[in-house]
Amino acid sequence: MKAAVLHAAHQPLTIEDIGLARPKRNEVLVRTAFAGLCHSDLHFMEGLYPYPVPCVLGHESAGVVEAVGEDVTYVQPGDHVVTCLSVFCGACPQCVTGHPNLCENTEVKLMPGMSRRLTWKGEVLHQFMNLSSFAEQMLVHEHAIVKIDPDIPLDRAALVGCGVVTGVMAVFNAARVEPGSTVAVIGCGGIGLSAVNGAALAGAERIIAIDTQPAKLELAREMGATDLVNASNADPVDIVRDLTGGGGVHYAFEAIGSKETAEQSFRMLRPGGLATIIGMIPVGTKIELHGADFLRDRRIQGTSMGGNRFRVDMPRLLNLWRQGRLKLDYLISGRIRLDQINEGFAMLKSGATVRQLIDFA
Ligand SMILES: NC(=O)c1ccc[n+]([C@@H]2O[C@H](COP(=O)([O-])OP(=O)(O)OC[C@H]3O[C@@H](n4cnc5c(N)ncnc54)[C@H](O)[C@@H]3O)[C@@H](O)[C@H]2O)c1
Ligand SMILES: [Zn+2]
Ligand SMILES: [Zn+2]
Repeated sequence: MKAAVLHAAHQPLTIEDIGLARPKRNEVLVRTAFAGLCHSDLHFMEGLYPYPVPCVLGHESAGVVEAVGEDVTYVQPGDHVVTCLSVFCGACPQCVTGHPNLCENTEVKLMPGMSRRLTWKGEVLHQFMNLSSFAEQMLVHEHAIVKIDPDIPLDRAALVGCGVVTGVMAVFNAARVEPGSTVAVIGCGGIGLSAVNGAALAGAERIIAIDTQPAKLELAREMGATDLVNASNADPVDIVRDLTGGGGVHYAFEAIGSKETAEQSFRMLRPGGLATIIGMIPVGTKIELHGADFLRDRRIQGTSMGGNRFRVDMPRLLNLWRQGRLKLDYLISGRIRLDQINEGFAMLKSGATVRQLIDFA
């Protein structure tokens, strides 16, 4: 089967014929329908985060079950599923205390370099985050998928697999935004726009969207932003302060992954405010905060995919899409073929697109 292989950081992905093992106990073989291009994949392609190579990237996808291994009762061939990298065991301390996204069982959630499901030219090909979605088929643990209703279009469903669940659940699970509060979101790509949408669902009174691309800000308005800030030639912290009568926001979300914008997210908080860093700040980069700002109950936190419980959250989100309240349609910038993946990532890097989906049909 065909897959896009990363041989080394800073090199284009190449389309290769790769091998896939048969489903073992608790494993499911999925025919990929759509896979989204997320900025997290790009961070690995650019060497900002390490991963064993060669590997097949991709972690935001939906597809159809083709075969199941021994003991799998959750799905059967023909079922439609969304994948998630938050593989859970259901029994470790994190899982049983309500944090399955932080599962500590490394026999279920394999550490980088441990999967032996893929091969290329007879050698080990590393599986990215237990998924590797930039491939025509995926062999995954049954706890890496959620079953969805067959009438849901698989392109919309794929988006929920990373960007949407992360952005929306950062608002609900990580920050717990309250109705009537003020929210700022820095970065309006797939994750940031989903956080804007989540803030609207949470009943935030003001939702200030910040980006450097006017087209992204217009999309943010469609997702529910009340104020748009172009940060290309102005300090967004000053503008957010002006917009909030000098006080700052209750909740800020950083959805880019840079030192500068992470620091901005904390600086734009009012006393008692909470900044949530969603973006992947490059390994080794430190962020600097003024210690005195902590005296007035300001907080800052990270989030692993919005603290999701994806088997519950993803079907709920897709129902909200059915009702028109989750605006997935605005996130799709285009559909591409697998062999257009490098051009697709160049577009993502330029800031021109939100989500491009590889269509495997
Ligand atoms: N924490 C998690 O679990 C998790 C999950 C998924 C993605 N992420 C991370 O979230 C981040 C966003 O991912 P994405 O796919 O939405 O990326 P993206 O590239 O689609 O979006 C980033 C947006 O930021 C804007 N931007 C860039 N520099 C800016 C600046 N200085 N000020 C304001 N706006 C600026 C761009 O125009 C773009 O619209 C990435 O770092 C990704 O790795 C984290
Ligand atoms: Zn992602
Ligand atoms: Zn666990």
